[in-house]
Amino acid sequence: MANGLVYHEVAMEAPGTAAGLVEVTGYTSEQARWYCQQLESGQILLFRSVPFNFPEDDRQFLLSQKQTGSRFHKNISYRPATDLLKGVDADSEDRQRLHRVMRGFSREVTGFMAKFLAPYAGQIKVDFASFRPLEEHGRDLPLHKRNDLLHVDAFPTRPTQGGRIMRVFVNINPSVSRVWNVGEPFHAFAPPLVEAGKVKAPPRGAGAALAGIAARLGLPVRPRSRYDEFMLYLHDWLKESAEFQKDSPKREVSFPPGCCWMVFTDGVPHAAMSGQFALEQTFIVPAQALVSPEVAPVRVLEKVMGKPMAN
Ligand SMILES: [Fe+2]
Repeated sequence: MANGLVYHEVAMEAPGTAAGLVEVTGYTSEQARWYCQQLESGQILLFRSVPFNFPEDDRQFLLSQKQTGSRFHKNISYRPATDLLKGVDADSEDRQRLHRVMRGFSREVTGFMAKFLAPYAGQIKVDFASFRPLEEHGRDLPLHKRNDLLHVDAFPTRPTQGGRIMRVFVNINPSVSRVWNVGEPFHAFAPPLVEAGKVKAPPRGAGAALAGIAARLGLPVRPRSRYDEFMLYLHDWLKESAEFQKDSPKREVSFPPGCCWMVFTDGVPHAAMSGQFALEQTFIVPAQALVSPEVAPVRVLEKVMGKPMAN
């Protein structure tokens, strides 16, 4: 592989075109564009160790939460723009430290991304971070909330209007890998579903129309575009489709203890099969910042549906 990079498939259950791993063993500013291309075309970038400052004390503190796990919600989230921590009881004695740890993680990973993926610098938007302290295997969740079914991500309350969802994960578990199944990238799996009439553009919701009016009046709301509505619909459709879950090309990937990985989760179908204790930071990359816009889900959908989707 060019630039001394190692292409490494940790595990492969099924051949085909399912997303793979690209291990990052070093990086220079000249390689940044190539990494962006890999990510946008549906590859997962893997770092064997965390490529930014992440104090061992913080890791131990997060792991210690397992003894008191019942106090926590399934997902603790941190909102960098407002410096808010959600999902922890207000009277929890660990709350302040948890807040500090999440704030530090969010800042460090954001600083790293500005250097590592330089083509996005100045345009990438920092979204929420999360701590996932529960074991993924065997969770009892309603179908649309299940993590162990292949899906692409879409946010009901944070429309992207065609921007892409990038997520950076760290497996802080000292001894157990986090295991995913991953499928074919969006530009491979989605057009055939649309062309076959299996997945159709959903009717525009009343909420989208009202939000559009409010936005035109200058109110601070972000309207859902056709693209956002389609992606929410697709998220549910994929989880509901026994055929897609069973027959679509997929492979298992293991993320070893202490590793870090990043992936566009709106473009790579993924399912968390097992693992406990992950940290995650989400970024939104606007369409105009992409280096391979032709494989962005919004452009792929516009091409196959023959109409604009980002509004
Ligand atoms: Fe997801």
